[in-house]
Amino acid sequence: MSKLIVANWKMEMAHMEAIEWLHEDYPEVRITADNSPHELVICPSFTELSYATEHFFEDQWGAQNCGTYPLGPFTGEVSAISLAEMGVFHVIVGHSERRELGETNEMIKGKIESLLPQFINPIVCIGETLEQRESYKEVLFKQLEVLIEPYTKADISPIIAYEPIWAIGSGKTPKENQLEEVVNYIKEVTAELKPSVLYGGSVMPGIAKRFSPLVDGYLVGSASLNPELLKKIILSC
Ligand code: PGA
Repeated sequence: MSKLIVANWKMEMAHMEAIEWLHEDYPEVRITADNSPHELVICPSFTELSYATEHFFEDQWGAQNCGTYPLGPFTGEVSAISLAEMGVFHVIVGHSERRELGETNEMIKGKIESLLPQFINPIVCIGETLEQRESYKEVLFKQLEVLIEPYTKADISPIIAYEPIWAIGSGKTPKENQLEEVVNYIKEVTAELKPSVLYGGSVMPGIAKRFSPLVDGYLVGSASLNPELLKKIILSC
């Protein structure tokens, strides 16, 4: 079954290194993805997005964030409209690293409402901390309930990335039965929206293989910076 593999490069590479990656490594990674049934979306920083969309305009690219409002006096923000005009098809929204900086569920709702009219797919990140593990349902419910209205209005299915915060960059991952329980809960809460559910948090080729029957794809952080690992992840799904 086809999976969606989203590479979240975060702010791990500076401009010249990221351009070199795109120039040198991307074509081979692309061939691996094209020869697989899976869809690959790389999310570089804003500074590399126009290079990517101009040089590889036939492929799908993603951004790591966007402004809460469509246009206006918001210094330093990047509009969903600009991203759409650049040919960006996906935007990661509500990553825990941004929530930690103060992004609220209401702001995330605003971002989703800015993106959907531009025909950009938000990849909405949700997840609980280790301390919240016992009460994960309560935490995830609050993160999920803001999706209902914008997606019902737009009549489109969301892409939800479940990323337990304790699994991000830690090498730790949930057990299959734990992940299955959470994915079922997400699907229960958002049943009417028929979401695709991705998993994120220390994804490596072995995890991609093991979790494949449980999820619709992956949000990959650090392993996506290494072209060989990224190719292995694509081949393992
Ligand atoms: P990781 O990051 O794969 O490095 O754990 C995932 C993410 O934060 O999206």
